[in-house]
Amino acid sequence: MADSPKTTRRQDYTPPAFLVDTVELAFELDPKATLVRSRLALRRNPAAPQDAKLRLDGEALELLEAKLDGAALPAGRYSLGEDGSLTILDPPQSGTLETTVRIVPEKNTLLSGLYTSGGNFYTQCEAEGFRRITFFPDRPDVMSRYTVTITADRTLCPVMLSNGNSDGSGHAEGNRHWVRWVDPHPKPSYLFALVAGDLINVHDQFTTKSGRLVSLNIWVRRGDEDRCGHAMDSLKRSMKWDEDVFGLEYDLDIFNIAAVSDFNMGAMENKGLNVFNTKYVLAQPETATDGDYQGIETVIAHEYFHNWTGNRVTCRDWFQLSLKEGLTVFRDQEFSADQGSRAVKRIRDVRGLRAAQFPEDAGPMAHPVRPDSYIDIDNFYTPTVYQKGAEVVRLLHTRLGAEAFRRGMDLYISRNDNQAVTIEDFVGAMQEASGVDLSHHLHWYDQAGTPEVTAEDSYDPATRRYTLTLRQHTPPTPGQAEKGPLPIPVAMGLLGADGAELPTRLAGENSAQKGTRLLLLDQAEQRFTFEDVPAPPVPSLLRGFSAPVRLKGVPQARLRFLAVHDTDPFVRWDSGQQYAAAFMLEQVARVQRGEAPGFDPALAEAVANTLDGAGADPAFAAEALVLPGEGFLADQMQVADPVAIHQVRQAMRREIGTACAAKLRATYEALTDTGPYRIDGHSIGRRALRNACLAYLTAAGDTALAAAQYDAATNMTDQLAALSLLADTDSPAREKALAAFHAKWRGDDLVLDKWFSIQAMSSRPDTLAAVQALYAHPDFDLKNPNRARALIGAFAAGNPLHFHDAGGAGYRFLADAVIALDPINGQVAARLIGPLGLWRRQSEARGALMRKELERVLAAPNLSKGTFEKASKALA
Ligand code: TRP
Ligand code: ZN
Repeated sequence: MADSPKTTRRQDYTPPAFLVDTVELAFELDPKATLVRSRLALRRNPAAPQDAKLRLDGEALELLEAKLDGAALPAGRYSLGEDGSLTILDPPQSGTLETTVRIVPEKNTLLSGLYTSGGNFYTQCEAEGFRRITFFPDRPDVMSRYTVTITADRTLCPVMLSNGNSDGSGHAEGNRHWVRWVDPHPKPSYLFALVAGDLINVHDQFTTKSGRLVSLNIWVRRGDEDRCGHAMDSLKRSMKWDEDVFGLEYDLDIFNIAAVSDFNMGAMENKGLNVFNTKYVLAQPETATDGDYQGIETVIAHEYFHNWTGNRVTCRDWFQLSLKEGLTVFRDQEFSADQGSRAVKRIRDVRGLRAAQFPEDAGPMAHPVRPDSYIDIDNFYTPTVYQKGAEVVRLLHTRLGAEAFRRGMDLYISRNDNQAVTIEDFVGAMQEASGVDLSHHLHWYDQAGTPEVTAEDSYDPATRRYTLTLRQHTPPTPGQAEKGPLPIPVAMGLLGADGAELPTRLAGENSAQKGTRLLLLDQAEQRFTFEDVPAPPVPSLLRGFSAPVRLKGVPQARLRFLAVHDTDPFVRWDSGQQYAAAFMLEQVARVQRGEAPGFDPALAEAVANTLDGAGADPAFAAEALVLPGEGFLADQMQVADPVAIHQVRQAMRREIGTACAAKLRATYEALTDTGPYRIDGHSIGRRALRNACLAYLTAAGDTALAAAQYDAATNMTDQLAALSLLADTDSPAREKALAAFHAKWRGDDLVLDKWFSIQAMSSRPDTLAAVQALYAHPDFDLKNPNRARALIGAFAAGNPLHFHDAGGAGYRFLADAVIALDPINGQVAARLIGPLGLWRRQSEARGALMRKELERVLAAPNLSKGTFEKASKALA
């Protein structure tokens, strides 16, 4: 890289020099040369310095013409910057700027701006893609009303969509036609969208609570129309839920969703025209797993909910990203919790947070929920901004209660409607509506790192007093050595020796409370004294995972007790996981000393008990049966040992599978479903439980069962569960099943992705060679983000055993792939490189090999700023 790319800092925010009241865009679509004419009604921002420059962002644009108030701009009145921007010299106080640019959609492999996929046109503008379409002050605090005219060949593009309501169409010269879209709502440029091509729509409608009839359409390629049912159903349920729970109604007459198979992320909330990765739209029982169905429901809800939290009320600048993302994830989590089992949803969300966000918080890219600086904002669409951001919103919900939270939301939205605001505006509305002082809560947004909470307790039989001392400490993160205490709500209860929940009365309270109560730990150390406690109790802490912290040091005996007796399902589940994790980590230490891992019969007992009681809640039982993952275990170690961790986990699975074989088999058989495929929570839970049993039975050596399930399966959930188990084995059924799967699904991108991923995540010793061969497979396509993630991402992030190959071949494979991908799609390359950055948590030898590969990536010519940022920060 010639110059180091520049860092943008939160403290440097200044208001935009010019505002744009209206935008008129005219597109002449052509894959090889699209013309974009833009007319901007500009005026100086009264809130900005009056001598500030009129600078419009631009990237990869060919400027053909520029006019100010109808007259061509002479060469001396404007300049084009090296960064692609356009500066108008001596600008008037207000005026109309017209530009015409040429862009090349079919060459746009970055998939940011306007690009083609399968011959159709799509846009992606968040965060800074609009500048790749036309010159514009491309920042979220410039909100404008858009009118968009699209002209294209009738045959190539029978369908042409943009934001808002449709406003006329007609013939144009040759075989061309035009349409016009008007979006009545002012919006930032990142929410602009255009979709055009030979698409077909699945149509439905929804009537809002105040009687607006909304036309709902999902636009897909021909042939995909019978796979949109679940997405449409999820959309209607989301629209209803947002009315019921938050009083928020849809605000246009039409809601369009377009699905595209080349897409950098999950989906995008463009106003009235969401664009989705096909992965989060298309599903049929034969092609999609239960996890895929749940992903669709979540992402459809998420993007729909952005209409209010993100679009109507948007972000002042990209540092405020969690204002829309954290809040919208919180909302989609609540929606999904209300669709099925709240407890199981919470368990899954916490599992995800611990798997992705905790390691990020402990690694080189650790950043606050509201970051202080970035080189490439695309690198900050992270688990911290999204998932931890949602937890930080949830803290308010937990502290204030649902009613006060709702009042806060109402105030936040009514006060900030059609504005670009900050996280202070959100917390301020919550504070005002609830009357609770939330100034300390803001530290959750500026302090990185995961707080560690420990508890110490004592009981005095003479006074019948029970004292609980809670402490918090947050380890340092890059650039933030000093940490202060945060306000941590600890939802808790006390259990008697028989497991019964005790009423609790804190010193100073008049009467005892039943059930879960909230302690607010907002200092480094705090003591809570409970009165009238008949005997030494067992504390149940962090019920429902009431804060995104690590609760440490709970003795194994108490974990065992809580796993059986606690009234809170999250603590029951988590205590089982923590118990197993602690035992497994001891075995890892044994393996490192050259000893064989031991086995704890309590684990088999717990599995047997879970199976006995599984009938009542199979989904919960399935969660309880799965041992802590390799990543979760690695995250508990100062220096991870991926090989020993894998060996121990396999040994535990084998022991449990052997010890509980009869019960596992009986449960498996009792669940062998003959009815039609259903996607309700109970049916999903039954399949999950059955497949958890199958996993243990296979681990214990029975591969025939998985092979039989593979052959008999009538849905992708069961088929894939069997195939992924077979993929770890040497059984001849493995090759047969993989070949059959490929032959059957080679024409289906989303299913073929699964075929790549399963092989990439195999524990077999030849996996790295297999992954290299798959990279050269004719069906592999580095340009397609889903396919790249399915192979490279699944291997690097989902196969610690082989990624951390002691000779460094796994690291080399990833670095080679990133170097090859970066010039094609720097956004996806920067995401894939993540696992190489976590070298500090590996052994000296592995760390050195990882750094060597990071340095090799950094030395690549013309590196994207995103990959540069990730690699250089990892080495810092
Ligand atoms: N705002 C989108 C969401 O969370 C995600 C998003 C951000 C995105 N940048 C993107 C999607 C780039 C695709 C490409 O819903
Ligand atoms: Zn989002």
